[in-house]
Amino acid sequence: KSDFSLTGRSAKRVVILGGGIAGLAAAYELGKAGYDCTILEARGVAGGRNLTVRGGTTETDLDGQTQRASFSPGIYLNAGPARIAQWMVTLDYCRELGVPIEPFVNANADALIYNEANGKPVRYRTAKADVYGYVSELLAKATDQGALDGQLTATDKERVLSFLQSFGAIGGRTAGWEYQGTNRRGYASYPGAGNDAGTPLDGPAALADVFASNVGRYFSFEFGYDQAMMMFQPVGGMDRIPYALSRAIGAGRIRLGAEITAVTDKPDGVEVTYRREGRTRTIEADFCVAALPPHLMARIPHNLGTAVQSALGSFPVTASGKIGLEYAGRWWENDLRIYGGITETDLDVSHIWYPSTGFHADRGLIVGYYNTGANARAYGSLTPEQRLLRAVEQGVKIHGEKYRSELTHSFSIAWHRTRYLEGAWTSPPWGSAGYNLLLQPAGHVHFAGDWLSHEVAWQHGAFVSARAAVTALHQRVLAH
Ligand code: FAD
Ligand code: PHE
Repeated sequence: KSDFSLTGRSAKRVVILGGGIAGLAAAYELGKAGYDCTILEARGVAGGRNLTVRGGTTETDLDGQTQRASFSPGIYLNAGPARIAQWMVTLDYCRELGVPIEPFVNANADALIYNEANGKPVRYRTAKADVYGYVSELLAKATDQGALDGQLTATDKERVLSFLQSFGAIGGRTAGWEYQGTNRRGYASYPGAGNDAGTPLDGPAALADVFASNVGRYFSFEFGYDQAMMMFQPVGGMDRIPYALSRAIGAGRIRLGAEITAVTDKPDGVEVTYRREGRTRTIEADFCVAALPPHLMARIPHNLGTAVQSALGSFPVTASGKIGLEYAGRWWENDLRIYGGITETDLDVSHIWYPSTGFHADRGLIVGYYNTGANARAYGSLTPEQRLLRAVEQGVKIHGEKYRSELTHSFSIAWHRTRYLEGAWTSPPWGSAGYNLLLQPAGHVHFAGDWLSHEVAWQHGAFVSARAAVTALHQRVLAH
């Protein structure tokens, strides 16, 4: 039940492997209940994939390439997590820990769509007006001509037609249901004083050309239950979350630079070996929460059994990368009137993000690519300088020379080449015997991480998985 405390019991010792969100959340919740926790984290800072890059941040990748960010004060790149949906438990932790949040602009009618074959970008609002308009026209014609009489009564038909007329801004029956454009497309010059009715944009292009341009390719993104506005971000960077968790846990309980090298389950507890400051050390505890990525846990010698070992190896890992581009001026706001949001492109950069904060400031940071899979591997195999050149080359196609000339600093991350992470997220084999095995403790070791949830690639998954693990651990303690 709700007895999440150790009232009347001696404080059990728990060693937590990994100081990502799952490890931190486990220590935070267990600490509230009176457990004696120690986190072992290999990296120099807690947070794991929750990494915010600021001026001074240094990272050496698996290929031995070192980058040191020289972003200006106040400029940062959320290299991993960057957005939070309203329903996610991540926001409850922000509230509880006093981490202020602000909107993350995940959809913007004034952001752009650039498909290379079309040669020039189009605003989302224009693309949507045309696609919705022509789809409505087609469906209205089919409906009115009787093509759907098997599905619709006469009354249904009138209701569908009336919906389509407003949804697509199309003409009525007498106008043949035609889409002829709408001011939803936007203007070349917006309406003004007196008799200035504005100058509409050219277009729309013919129906076949609109569909051929494939501008509707990515419209459905913002319908997602996990991506629909409102979305949020912590003020000042996503790492405000691990920062606040670390403070609540107590810095003395978190050993940074501690690389775990062996895990041994024993009859009455767990022994964990780790390397820190050039020395090998051992820690003993009553229980362990193993919150490492499964593909890395699989490389650590342990005695948890062959079934556990093969289950850990059954999580395919996704590659992903981002580049942060700092600019000396906010030309996307001043010239293009794009205040936050995402430009979608079929170029290998995939997504270009405009900042959701610092509007009208002197400087700002654009995410010049956020890609996954083959595109992420392609950029990941380049040097940081080559990644920058390639990303800028692509961005210039959309934004012109300013994209190159106003750039001041950059930093890129290839998650699959990042030490102690070696991947962006996994595709869990949900429902398999191996997955279900890892939901159970192996001796005194309980597993946690977003990979043991149905919200992989979200901090929400890491939080709820950690809560499930510490709840199970606590039930065992209560039962004895
Ligand atoms: P991790 O963060 O992987 O933690 C594992 C920890 O183990 C790390 O700190 C690692 O250093 C440590 N470790 C590994 N090996 C050892 C060792 N041998 N010894 C000691 N320590 C070790 N989530 C969102 O909520 N919103 C988003 O917008 C979002 N976008 C994302 C975008 C990208 C590009 C990526 C990569 C992730 C994104 N996520 C997002 C997902 C989010 O980052 C993860 O779900 C969450 O951070 C996972 O936490 P975790 O504790 O399970 O794992
Ligand atoms: N959570 C990550 C993000 O929002 C990865 C993701 C992308 C998850 C798209 C679902 C859909 O960027």
